[in-house]
Amino acid sequence: MSHLGIDIGTSSVKAVLLDGDQRLVAEGSAPLAVDRPRPLWSEQDPDAWWTATEAAVAAVRAAAPEAWSGLASIGLSGQQHGATLLDRAGRPLRPCILWNDGRSGAECAELTARVPDFTRRASNIAMPGFTAPKLLWVARHEPEIFAATAMVLLPKDYVRFRLSGDFVSEMSDSAGTLWLDIPGRRWDPVLLEACDLSESRMPRLVEGSEVSGVLCEAVAAAWGLSGRRIPIAGGGGDNAASAVGIGATRGGDGFLSLGTSGVIFVATDRPVALPERTLHGFCHALPGRWHGMVVALSAASALSWIAAIVGAAGDIGGLLARAEAFASDPVRRAHAPVFLPYLTGERTPHNDPHATAGFAGLTAEHGADAMAYAVVEGVSFALADCLAVLVEAGAAPASCMLVGGGSRSPFWAQLLADATGLTLDLPQGAELGAAFGAARLGMLAAGGREDAVCTKPAVRRSFAPDRSVESLLAGRAARMHALYRPAAPAGS
Ligand code: XUL
Repeated sequence: MSHLGIDIGTSSVKAVLLDGDQRLVAEGSAPLAVDRPRPLWSEQDPDAWWTATEAAVAAVRAAAPEAWSGLASIGLSGQQHGATLLDRAGRPLRPCILWNDGRSGAECAELTARVPDFTRRASNIAMPGFTAPKLLWVARHEPEIFAATAMVLLPKDYVRFRLSGDFVSEMSDSAGTLWLDIPGRRWDPVLLEACDLSESRMPRLVEGSEVSGVLCEAVAAAWGLSGRRIPIAGGGGDNAASAVGIGATRGGDGFLSLGTSGVIFVATDRPVALPERTLHGFCHALPGRWHGMVVALSAASALSWIAAIVGAAGDIGGLLARAEAFASDPVRRAHAPVFLPYLTGERTPHNDPHATAGFAGLTAEHGADAMAYAVVEGVSFALADCLAVLVEAGAAPASCMLVGGGSRSPFWAQLLADATGLTLDLPQGAELGAAFGAARLGMLAAGGREDAVCTKPAVRRSFAPDRSVESLLAGRAARMHALYRPAAPAGS
C-alpha cells in the first residue's frame, strides 16, 4: 500500500509517494511562476497548479510504477489564503490572488468597519494576505467577476476539485480566510455576509484527517488507477501539513520554517488569539487542536533575491559560504551593513503591505558576501520579532524543529538560533515538508491511528544559541528596527 502527498506550493508543486511504513518511495515536482503585474500584486493561474500537479504525479508514477499501483490514499496541502474564484461551470474567473499579495489594505479597513466585532469574531486582524479582503477588492474593482463567482476556493481545494469534482475544504486552511469561526470550526455567516457572500458559495468543511471525497474515475483512468475509489483526505494548509509531517501535533510542539516566507508555528490544545499583534490564531489540521502562527513574508525568497542581483542565482550555497566566511571575522561582522527584509511588505508584527526593504551602512568595502550576510541576518531578526509575538500570546514553542529549504544551511540555522534565542532541532527528512504531512493526513483518512502515523522524526542536529554573539546581534537588531517606518501608500 502506498500514500500520495501533494503540496501546491508557491514556487512548485511537489508530490511524494510513501510506503505503509512512511518510507519515501518516489518524489516529483514541477515549477510554478508567480505573476506580479502591478506593485503589491501577486497572482498565479489556477490551471498552472493542475498542470504542475499532473507533471509531479507523472514523475512519481514513472519512478515507482509498482508502488503506485497500490495507492491507498491521497492527501493535499497548499499555500494558504489564495482567492480562487470559479464560475458556475467550475472554471477559474481570474488568476488567483495569492497570500503575498498586498493590494487589499483599504478593504481590510472596510471589513473591520462593516463588522464592529470583526477581529474578535475572526480571532484575527484583517490583513491583506488573508482571503476575505481580496474578495472585497474583487467586488469593488471587478464587479462583473464578483457577480459571476459561484464558488470561492483555496489553492489546494481547487486541485481537490480537479481530482474529485467535490467542493470541500478543511479547518486549517479555511482558518486563514477570515470567514471561519475558529473555536467552533464552522463558517461564520456574519463574516461571510461582510463580504456579500454566504455559505452557498463556500466549500463544505471537513477535518484534515477526514475523507473529503474520492478520486474521480476520469483522473483515476488517466493515472492508471481505473475503477479504484481512492480516498482524498481533507489535508491542510502548508504550515499545518508541515506540522503534521514533523509530528508537531500536541500543545507546545513548534517549528520554524524557512521557505519563501518565514513562519513560526506552535500547536495548541485551545484556540489562541492576539490579533492586535498580528498573531495568526488558526485551527490545526487535526480535530480538537489549534495553532498560533507568525509570518515574515520574505525569508528564503530574500536570499534568492540578493543571489539573483549579485549573479549567484545558480549557486546560493556558494553565496552563503561566502557570507559565512565574511561573518567569521568579528570586526567585519560588526561593520556589516544591516538589512530590513520587507521586500513584499510585512505581516508579523507590522501588518504593513507598503513596508519596503533596504540596506543601511553600506561602504565601498562591502561586496556580495557582506550583503548576503546582511540579508540572512535581517530575515533572522524578522523571525525573532515574530517569536516575540508568540511569547506575548503565551504560545512560545516548548520545542522547535527547523524545516524548509533554508534549513539546509547550518550557518543560517545557527544564526537563527542566535537571533531568536531558540534551540532549533533539524529533523531527518525535513526537506519533505508539507507534502509529507499531506501524505500522513491521507494515511489517517485511510484509517491510520494518529499516535502511530504522526510520530516525531529523529533529530539530525541541534543548534543552540551562542551567547557570545548575543550583544553584537542585539545592537545590530536595534539598527535594523530603527530602519522601519510605517510607509505611506505610494501616491498618497
Ligand atoms: C501563512 C502564509 C504562507 C503561505 C506560503 O499564513 O501566508 O506561509 O502559506 O505557502
